[in-house]
Amino acid sequence: MNRIVATGMAVPACVVDNHLLARCMDTSDAWIVQRTGIRERRVSPDTYRMLQGLAEAADKPAFMRAVFDRGLGETIDSTLMVSDLALEAAEMALKNAGLTAEEVDCIVASSTIPDYAYPHTGCVLQGKLGLTSTPAISLQQGCAGFLYALAIADQMMRGGMYRQTLVVGAELISTIFDYTDRGRDMAVLFADGAGAAVLRAEPGPRGVLSSHLHTDGTVMDSLAGEVWGTSTYPPVSRRKIDEDRSRPRMQGRQVFVQAVRRFKEVVRECLAANALGVNDIDRFIFHQANLRILEAVGDALQIPADRLYNNVDRYGNTAAASVPIALHEAVTQGLVREGDLVLLAAFGTGFSWGATLIRW
Ligand code: UT7
Repeated sequence: MNRIVATGMAVPACVVDNHLLARCMDTSDAWIVQRTGIRERRVSPDTYRMLQGLAEAADKPAFMRAVFDRGLGETIDSTLMVSDLALEAAEMALKNAGLTAEEVDCIVASSTIPDYAYPHTGCVLQGKLGLTSTPAISLQQGCAGFLYALAIADQMMRGGMYRQTLVVGAELISTIFDYTDRGRDMAVLFADGAGAAVLRAEPGPRGVLSSHLHTDGTVMDSLAGEVWGTSTYPPVSRRKIDEDRSRPRMQGRQVFVQAVRRFKEVVRECLAANALGVNDIDRFIFHQANLRILEAVGDALQIPADRLYNNVDRYGNTAAASVPIALHEAVTQGLVREGDLVLLAAFGTGFSWGATLIRW
């Protein structure tokens, strides 16, 4: 079996509460808390600096346009890249595992938006870890990214190819949103962070029991964005903005309904595959999209509230980073203990969704 022997996480130091967002766009703390459960989130220093300027600006659309046009003034280079957050989370996981980076056989990373068009995030991370020949794989799988990465790592290890794998979900997604009224539906939801896990092949009953992955690309337009890279800030061109092709698109209601439906389906599929019921599971660690989605799924599946981990109030939706951050916190808080059955599930752009059952 392949067991998660250690986890790690990283979030930027800059905290953005709902009140700061309400100074930038027509929204309110009450609206955001009621619809999403989010109270604050962490963002890159560049996003934070931009938000402070936007909050003070008299003509906010003009300020935002100028940012997209010319960056933050003196530079268009990001001070923090997604690979930096990935590195911090990875180093914590390695330290917690008592390993050096050289002892990892393979890296599988996922980030919705990479640092560069190429090479990929896992490769940039691998270089920052100082490795010179360890294979690195990257996915751009959105919010389901960590589950896909974990399943790929697990399967490669089951096949005997590797013994120890570093799995990472990292995002610097706050850099892409329009923080004026125009982009408020998405801008209040998403935020930055990274989470990592070390997966090790070991004899015995503990480890990943099964993974269940799905994608429906026919509805991709419900939650989509065109090309960016976080190596520059902002990673969007003027022309794209003028043509309205740069903004992330989301049909919030449809995403909500599909998320609840697919979470329910895939959790049931995972339970059935292992001949288990909801009450057999000690801890459910779901992608932290929105508290209302978590509650709707929890109610429908009759998951006791105290078994459904939730930290969306503090971090918002950190996409691929959300499951490993929640897992790391739950483990650190002693909410996941040896022998526990832990069910991970996620849903995001694509749509792509999945579930993984682990005997901890
Ligand atoms: O990983 C998956 C990522 N995506 C998600 O998880 C998103 C899933 N969807 C949702 O969470 C919800 O659909 C939202 C939180 C995005 C929106 O909640 P809702 O209850 O579905 O609101 P709505 O889209 O139906 O909009 C209701 C009103 C609209 O105004 P009108 O047309 O009624 O006048 C929106 O323009 O709320 C308005 N609105 C806002 N108001 C204040 C939209 N965004 C905001 C905002 N602040 N940030």
